[in-house]
Amino acid sequence: MSFGLSRRTPQDLQGWGLDREDLPQWENATLDPRLLFADPNRRFELEIGSGKGTFLVQQAAMQTDTNFLGIEWAGEFQRYAADRARRHTLNNVRVLRDDGSEFLTHRCADHTVDVIHLYFTDPWPKKRHHKRRLVQHSTLQHMHRVLKLSGQVHLVTDHAELWEWYELHVEAAANLFDRGPFVTPQSAGDEEVVGTNFERKYRREGRSFNAMTLTRVDNLEKSDAS
Ligand SMILES: C[S@@+](CC[C@H](N)C(=O)[O-])C[C@H]1O[C@@H](n2cnc3c(N)ncnc32)[C@H](O)[C@@H]1O
Repeated sequence: MSFGLSRRTPQDLQGWGLDREDLPQWENATLDPRLLFADPNRRFELEIGSGKGTFLVQQAAMQTDTNFLGIEWAGEFQRYAADRARRHTLNNVRVLRDDGSEFLTHRCADHTVDVIHLYFTDPWPKKRHHKRRLVQHSTLQHMHRVLKLSGQVHLVTDHAELWEWYELHVEAAANLFDRGPFVTPQSAGDEEVVGTNFERKYRREGRSFNAMTLTRVDNLEKSDAS
């Protein structure tokens, strides 16, 4: 699948698009991802599987006091999203081509992220592929580690079986996160949950959605993975 962006080079993307290969210091140590931005002192939110960047660009334009990092594995989508941010001159958006699980597990420094967004992640329906799902017992532990005090994770999916998987994993991680109703972002339109590309596509197909917000448990007596 091509979106006419395959000829974009890192130079064309002028810093909006980053590849993990371009960041050699990340090979052996975790990095504070806030340092990728012109003003690293702003709030910091992470979207994993950011696709074409619809949520990132819309939300960043409304929330200019927050830096947004999209992590997207597919190079064409990553370049597409980075180019959208460049065209809107959003200096609070960067899009990194990386595997979201590896980023959480090996690269992201502790207590750096205010919010993690996971919208319409690939459901990997075959049992032998379940290990590729972004939500796992281990990734929830790393989400807890990288979040700041009282940080949040937002989850939305159309996929019934993936939703069950979320519910089971979140229940098992009750020492790490309190589950609550979904907090709708500013960028969502009327009757939207979050306003991503996939939500709009699936809404046209008449699909329904499930959503939840997890809030980091900061109490060390409840959690030993602070
Ligand atoms: C179904 S799309 C949803 C895109 C967007 N969140 C939306 O709602 O429109 C899932 C996206 O996640 C990306 N993706 C899948 N696994 C990933 C991973 N492990 N790390 C980063 N991105 C991933 C895919 O390339 C794809 O662009």
